[in-house]
Amino acid sequence: MVLGVLGSGSGSNMQAILDAIDAGALDARIAIALSDNPDAFILERARKRGIETGIIDCRGFRTKFPEEAQQETAARLLAAGVEMVCLAGFLRLVKRPLLDAFPSRILNIHPALLPAFPGLESWKQALDAGVSETGATVHLVDEGMDTGPVILQERVPVLPGDTAESLHARIQVAEHRLYPAAIQKLAAT
Ligand code: GAR
Repeated sequence: MVLGVLGSGSGSNMQAILDAIDAGALDARIAIALSDNPDAFILERARKRGIETGIIDCRGFRTKFPEEAQQETAARLLAAGVEMVCLAGFLRLVKRPLLDAFPSRILNIHPALLPAFPGLESWKQALDAGVSETGATVHLVDEGMDTGPVILQERVPVLPGDTAESLHARIQVAEHRLYPAAIQKLAAT
């Protein structure tokens, strides 16, 4: 399975995918990593592994993913031979035409038990809501915000004294197990 990864930040989930590939737990290859943030550490991680990288030019928009940029992203992924797209901390909403280029083959990792706490900083949302349990979800991307069909989920407890940082760190441990397993599961269908 040839993967393309889109990320805006640290890229620890992409690293977990690479580690699972190295360990023989995931039969895949990352062909390209793209980011809307030229300074994102995910690009550095990819370069270190000799993975092709690229910048997604969002035309100065802070949160929007303009249609031309989505077209360019689809073309770049297809040119790299990508069969499945993994959003890994990518903070813009994917719409057509990118969705149409990879039907039912774009995955996202979300730091909550969807449909609970969609959107940004879901670990903070969980703390503010006072729930005793949250988690991580890998789902297929559709036109909504964090609404597509769930592939895998893992529960994570909220512990007394948790801060936003400690809870997010615990969720990320679950994410790093979950993402490679979800890719393997989707690849087998
Ligand atoms: C992850 O926790 C991911 O679930 C979250 O961003 C973080 C990226 O970490 N994504 C979202 O909140 C999407 N709504 P990473 O760059 O280290 O993989």
